[in-house]
Amino acid sequence: MTKLFFLISLILLPTTFTSQSEKQKPPTAAHTELTNYGFPIGLLPSSVKNYTFNQTSGEFSVDLGSACKITLPPDNYLATYSKRVSGKIVEGRIAELDGIRVRAFFKWWSITGISSSGDNLVFEVGMITAKYPSKNFDESPQCEGKHSSS
Ligand SMILES: *[C@@H]1O[C@H](CO)[C@@H](O)[C@H](O)[C@H]1NC(C)=O
Ligand SMILES: *[C@@H]1O[C@H](CO)[C@@H](O)[C@H](O)[C@H]1NC(C)=O
Repeated sequence: MTKLFFLISLILLPTTFTSQSEKQKPPTAAHTELTNYGFPIGLLPSSVKNYTFNQTSGEFSVDLGSACKITLPPDNYLATYSKRVSGKIVEGRIAELDGIRVRAFFKWWSITGISSSGDNLVFEVGMITAKYPSKNFDESPQCEGKHSSS
């Protein structure tokens, strides 16, 4: 378990590419909704086309227009977002997450849940968790290989 924790740490560490000084404005209403629940906007790419949110159940679905690929510098780990990312959000916690994966060590790892304590984010990959400073996610990443026309 300890070994795996370090493995996941290696996967997620490269997200330290934003400087904390240049905090971005939420690019879409879906990003604003994230911040309303205590999460940073960098968890979603900037290309959100549409989203639905049921305030009663917390169930959400984000439409990115197409599947989205993001390379996380400096070590160039690949992350993918499905065209549709869904889950269930309450204050400080996203559960039943579906649609975000990270490629490392020749395998795809699905991120199944994320919780936020304000300063830190805890990512869940199945039963394994890894903690990162929220400030690494202050900027919403751009999808690769596409024109930023909208
Ligand atoms: C946004 O999603 C909802 C629910 O799937 C759908 O009814 C609506 O037409 C969509 N809006 C756009 C602009 O795609
Ligand atoms: C929102 O969630 C509640 C509780 O699960 C459900 O009863 C309701 O039908 C949902 N509303 C929509 C518009 O899906």
